[in-house]
Amino acid sequence: MANILAGTPVRDAILAELAERIRRLPRAPGLAVILAGDNPASAIYVRNKVKACAELGIVSEQRTPPASIETSELLAMVQEFNERPEIDGILVQMPLPPQVDSRRVLQAIAPEKDVDGFHPVNVGYLVAQVEGPRACTPAGIMRLLAHYGIAVAGRHAVVVGRSDIVGKPMALLLLHAHATVTICHSKTPDLAAVCRGADLLVAAMGRPAMLTRDYLKPGGVVIDVGMNRLDRREQVAGIFRGDPRKLEQFERHGSVLVGDVHPLDVAEVAGAYTPVPGGVGPLTIAMLMANTVRAAERRAC
Ligand code: GUN
Repeated sequence: MANILAGTPVRDAILAELAERIRRLPRAPGLAVILAGDNPASAIYVRNKVKACAELGIVSEQRTPPASIETSELLAMVQEFNERPEIDGILVQMPLPPQVDSRRVLQAIAPEKDVDGFHPVNVGYLVAQVEGPRACTPAGIMRLLAHYGIAVAGRHAVVVGRSDIVGKPMALLLLHAHATVTICHSKTPDLAAVCRGADLLVAAMGRPAMLTRDYLKPGGVVIDVGMNRLDRREQVAGIFRGDPRKLEQFERHGSVLVGDVHPLDVAEVAGAYTPVPGGVGPLTIAMLMANTVRAAERRAC
């Protein structure tokens, strides 16, 4: 059986270090959070982010405009937070409602307050390997690999998914850590064969349990970024092969989470893997906290 790469101990180590750094700041860091519309997954993510702030001693201020909000109104909200000195970081939860020009909103955030690392200036810093905020999930994955002593240099890393939030920044961070990197997506021919060549496979395409054993290199390291909610009993029964604990979980909560990698196949075939839940998830929030503390430190001096 494969080793499980749990995210919680890595998160705890990151948060302990941040608590120390917050104590040395002249005032508590401030994070503005904008959650537009009523996407249920986004609401859960934001709730967890706000809770993490409170536990760590970061002051958060949340705005929850309706799904009908226009780009201009969001731009005004961002502008207000840009101008307020006690706000160190601004997070606009993605995705935004369809009528909103997301690119314009993200570009309106002052780069020094961009705690997601999504602003083109910060993406440029990432490409050029200049210090700056890095996208939280990929940055968290790099911390997890370091924590577990997993070598990256010289390995073949395959990233499945090319999003601005995970796939693209992940590929760059792995490249900078001297991996040979392949980025795959929905148009990649024979995806299974490419994935089977991966010493390190990062799955970030948002397709429940899609990467089955044919996609996995025996003994390889698998990082599963997927967070897919299964809300049909037959889906749960199929993927978890009738596992009574998962079916009981489904009866109790009405849904079960699964990653992009098949949870039973990865446990049998991989050398080490991140579980869902409890793998990459806790690290995204920890790195958001890290980016907020870093922004506050930079702005304090
Ligand atoms: N939506 C999914 N992941 C993220 C993230 O890391 N930051 C923001 N702002 N939105 C997201």
